[in-house]
Amino acid sequence: MRNDFEKAMHFRHAAKRFDPNKTISSEDFTFILEAGRLSPSSFGVEQWHFFIIRDKAMLEAIQEKAWNQPQITTASELIGVAYRKKVRSSDDYIQKEFDMLKFPEVVRNLYRDWNDYRSDEELECWSSRQTYIAAANMMTAAASIGIDSCPIEGFDRDAVEKIIGIDTIHFGLPQLISFGYRVKEQQSRHRSELSDIVTYI
Ligand SMILES: Cc1cc2nc3c(=O)[nH]c(=O)nc-3n(C[C@H](O)[C@H](O)[C@H](O)COP(=O)(O)O)c2cc1C
Repeated sequence: MRNDFEKAMHFRHAAKRFDPNKTISSEDFTFILEAGRLSPSSFGVEQWHFFIIRDKAMLEAIQEKAWNQPQITTASELIGVAYRKKVRSSDDYIQKEFDMLKFPEVVRNLYRDWNDYRSDEELECWSSRQTYIAAANMMTAAASIGIDSCPIEGFDRDAVEKIIGIDTIHFGLPQLISFGYRVKEQQSRHRSELSDIVTYI
């Protein structure tokens, strides 16, 4: 298990181009999505939504608004990893999650008190952060079954939200992730040493 995880971490890299002739099976893609679904989120309210973009014309239009990065149209699957905007305790979505999670009154109140003194902007930022956890898990899950990925923040968000036609009252789109099969072996990886990034206190 430990070795499998390590292998996946070394296999994963931000692939810049995929083999356009190779497609991910629906079984494998569901496995990847499940890793997103099972990810942790603050209060467990799953502040994410995964938009799977398969329309060819849409993908081409997105690539144009994303520095023309070829990982978009050569990918087998492109996921728009969106966050939820209406996350105050009184919002319908949160009420539904509270009921599903069977939250007692005390936790509902804690959530309300916690978000009462936060601005909409702070809450959006908080919500958006959760999506990166799901994104990371999906990429590692993909790597564990030999599937490559690339996280993408390099795009004109307003334009891409319009192209996809997402409801921007309820959702924001901070990142895309493309999945597919690499055409080139990955370059050597550059990382700082643990001693540079870890401080024991
Ligand atoms: C949130 C996020 C956004 C990123 N956006 C892009 C992007 O738009 N285009 C790209 O080619 N790589 C993008 N990357 C990939 C990083 O450049 C890459 O992960 C980093 O250079 C380390 O390389 P590695 O992932 O191959 O180990 C992004 C990574 C993250 C985590």
